[in-house]
Amino acid sequence: MIVLKSPREIEKMREAGKLLASCHKEIKKLINPGVSTWEINEFVDSYLSRHGATAQQKGYRGYEYATCASINDEVCHGFPRKEVLGEGDIVTIDMVVNLNGALADSAWSYAVGKVNSETQRLLDVSKESLYKGIAAAVPGNRIGDIGHAIQSYVEGEGFSVVREFIGHGIGATIHEKPDVPHFGLPGKGPRIKEGMVFTIEPMVNAGRWETKMDPNKWTARTIDAQNSAQYEHTIAITKEGPIILTEQDE
Ligand code: MF3
Ligand code: CO
Repeated sequence: MIVLKSPREIEKMREAGKLLASCHKEIKKLINPGVSTWEINEFVDSYLSRHGATAQQKGYRGYEYATCASINDEVCHGFPRKEVLGEGDIVTIDMVVNLNGALADSAWSYAVGKVNSETQRLLDVSKESLYKGIAAAVPGNRIGDIGHAIQSYVEGEGFSVVREFIGHGIGATIHEKPDVPHFGLPGKGPRIKEGMVFTIEPMVNAGRWETKMDPNKWTARTIDAQNSAQYEHTIAITKEGPIILTEQDE
């Protein structure tokens, strides 16, 4: 069942989203060679509590950290750790903010120092694919139109889209209906309606789309050890079209 949200509920989620976006802007300043994802995670935890919010991922299905921090070939659900980031790495920081009971979810990939041009292109295409997906999220379209827009763009650029992890409705809990795949066929899936709130979060791989699971049963990484990037927004569907609840106003 897809739970539609009222304008009031969406407004509360937008407040959570604004805080999340401001947190990402602070993270961007901290990302440098020599910093660890452990430090980033501690920063996020304290930033959220200083602003009256909590990290919803902590304790979610036994997950222990405020953030997911996925480095290079890690696709998603990387554990924050003390090993430091090096020049040329990429890292995706993903978090769900709970502000007064309202949730927002956003991941962002960051370059550590200078990255090579192919890695920069992976970041650029990943980010652009998110916005292409959002543009397709208009009332009257179907969920499959989003995935189709993302997949056709990404594959046209010579990269691939992860299949095992998808976007999702969000509301009372992190994961609700609808499922939002980042691949698929136009005209398929549920009709997009005013009041839906969901994430779009394509994981884009430099090489093959397949992933394998680490022994920790959380962290997925690319099967060919090539890089993976991800940008995620939480969006709400209005009569006029999608609004981004986690926009960073760059
Ligand atoms: N933020 C993630 C998403 O985009 C959810 C992570 S689940 C967790 O769907 F358990 F790792 F926190
Ligand atoms: Co997320």
